[in-house]
Amino acid sequence: MDTLDPNKVRSMTDIDATILKKDVTASTNDDLKALAAETDCTRPVVLFADKQTSGRGRQGRGFYSEGGLYMSVLFPTLGEESRYLTHIAAVAVADAIRSETGLAATVKWVNDVYLNGKKVCGILAESFLARGKRHFVLGIGVNVGTPKGLLPQDIRNTAAFFDGDKSAVAAGILTNLFGIIHAFDPTALRARYESLSFLAGRRVNVVREEIKKPATVIGLSDGLGLIVRYDDGSEETLIAGEVHLIL
Ligand code: BTN
Repeated sequence: MDTLDPNKVRSMTDIDATILKKDVTASTNDDLKALAAETDCTRPVVLFADKQTSGRGRQGRGFYSEGGLYMSVLFPTLGEESRYLTHIAAVAVADAIRSETGLAATVKWVNDVYLNGKKVCGILAESFLARGKRHFVLGIGVNVGTPKGLLPQDIRNTAAFFDGDKSAVAAGILTNLFGIIHAFDPTALRARYESLSFLAGRRVNVVREEIKKPATVIGLSDGLGLIVRYDDGSEETLIAGEVHLIL
């Protein structure tokens, strides 16, 4: 199995960040939170792992973490772009997959990247206080180069995978991510996010505390919320949360 090579990543991107790797850890997001609590980090830190034993997903779910690309980025400071960290990450990942493989990766609001109608990447952005200061950690898990035999059956059926060089995909993600953040332009981000998104016109269930409410997606708001119309004709702009596609 191809494993990520941090030296190769360093040689393929010129981002201003410390790049680290562990073979196995519980969760790269948790490791970077602990690092920020212990150390006064002045520049971003990237941490990769070949395997996570307690990979975390959104809504308190677990995230299967063996055989793919698992990475987190600690940002000790961010400006107004912190509001859009999840959207920025989704664009960075989809565009990195597109340029690395030529595959038409898309974005499903708010934080998933899709390939051929299935999820290929999950993103978990968290904000937290450490040493009296707000920090941000961005976790990204991509199903690249995962040997099929390794996967639990349910994931094999519901997730998308692609073959590729993990180090090159990681370098592409980091270059895109830091590029968007350093020259942050909300209008350009919105345009790129919208052009990668595929939910407009689709039927979805809006999920809140286990309750699903069917709706039709109208599009994206200026602030990159999801505008939906419920079956009673009322409309809502979702700022955060989750929608499930009705297939
Ligand atoms: C989701 O799809 O719900 C988000 C999944 C985020 C997974 C990544 S893998 C690297 C980082 N470490 C974690 O524990 N989670 C994130």
